[in-house]
Amino acid sequence: MTDAAPLQDIARGSLDLVVAALHRESRNVLSLTLRAADGGPLPAFRAGQHLPLWLGLPGRNIATYTLSSANHDLGHYRISVKLEQDGQGGSRHLHQLAVGAVLKASAPRGTFVLQDAPNPVLLLTGGIGITPALSMLQTLAREGQREVFFLHACNDAEEHSFAAEVEGLAKGNPLIRVFHAYANGTEADLQAGRCHHLGLIDRETLRRLLPLDDYHVYLCGPPGFMAAQTAALRSLGVAQEHIRTEVFSPPRPATPAAVATAPVAADGPVVSFARSGKTAVWTAATPSLLDFAEAQGLTPEFSCRAGVCGTCACRIVSGEVAYDTDPLEPPPPGEILLCCARPQGQLTLDL
Ligand SMILES: Cc1cc2nc3c(=O)[nH]c(=O)nc-3n(C[C@H](O)[C@H](O)[C@H](O)COP(=O)(O)OP(=O)(O)OC[C@H]3O[C@@H](n4cnc5c(N)ncnc54)[C@H](O)[C@@H]3O)c2cc1C
Ligand code: FES
Repeated sequence: MTDAAPLQDIARGSLDLVVAALHRESRNVLSLTLRAADGGPLPAFRAGQHLPLWLGLPGRNIATYTLSSANHDLGHYRISVKLEQDGQGGSRHLHQLAVGAVLKASAPRGTFVLQDAPNPVLLLTGGIGITPALSMLQTLAREGQREVFFLHACNDAEEHSFAAEVEGLAKGNPLIRVFHAYANGTEADLQAGRCHHLGLIDRETLRRLLPLDDYHVYLCGPPGFMAAQTAALRSLGVAQEHIRTEVFSPPRPATPAAVATAPVAADGPVVSFARSGKTAVWTAATPSLLDFAEAQGLTPEFSCRAGVCGTCACRIVSGEVAYDTDPLEPPPPGEILLCCARPQGQLTLDL
């Protein structure tokens, strides 16, 4: 184990990482092993956190990827990226990198992290949502004290990532139980032990597998999967406050055109950007302060544009904001998330 680099050295994409190895996990998922370009130790992180990468692509400056590696080895990070053929190209770019390529990053972040509690843990994931659960499983296997249920759903054997790694972590550890479900698997998959269930993970599957109800649940996957699993867990008596979720949502595109053509409301609050010296009148048609700042020619960092990743956090100099949808992770005191906030009266931002 190595010491963490000081946090002040790694703000805003100033951590240089080199791609040290590439590994195909399944048909559409590629893992990238990343080391510090200066050969030094990497910043510490908690299992479940994600790494903001400054990709610098048109329309895709930043993308966030959960660390799928163990947090007790800071000699390297690993991210595991599902290829999205359409979209803004962040995953396509990462899938085309070669060993030796350099990536810009900032410190891992996020509050979807393994809690210190004695309760049994349910890691329940669908598709690429497996990445935070994998890092958590490594921590739990090393700790060896909590009962762990690792339930993963994917399409079929070809899209089943990390099968051998998960089995290896569970092997010889009676506290860890593993269950894989293939939505489109075959009898041959079942017989070969590649999966334990054909079809979806539903309420009846969970009831059969989970004898208790005091689990701490970590749930990550496509939106429909998350909604269905949350409803099933609640109906089985799992408390809402024990169900933690992470969403890998696609970014909502910027809408500067809507801002530019919106009629200017004479009585809209004034929004000032302290560092750039710009001031403009807010219009009700503007979706968020992020869109508003972009319409003024500013380029704040963002990734999800949905209040999920925390990349657009900005210090507030004076004034207040309201959120259309509350951020999944509240920003630190004195900061706001631009992508889902609107001004409540006159506002000055550190931008
Ligand atoms: C906290 C967090 C952690 C994450 N961890 C991981 C991880 O471990 N591994 C991983 O592979 N990804 C992860 N992601 C997702 C990742 O950040 C990227 O969003 C993903 O790689 C896709 O980026 P892209 O630029 O290739 O495609 P995108 O432009 O994001 O497009 C992806 C898909 O969404 C669709 N889409 C895009 N915009 C919209 C829209 N407005 N409405 C509907 N559909 C739309 C596209 O057509 C495409 O099919 C994470 C995201 C977050 C927020
Ligand atoms: S861009 Fe992700 S929270 Fe705002």
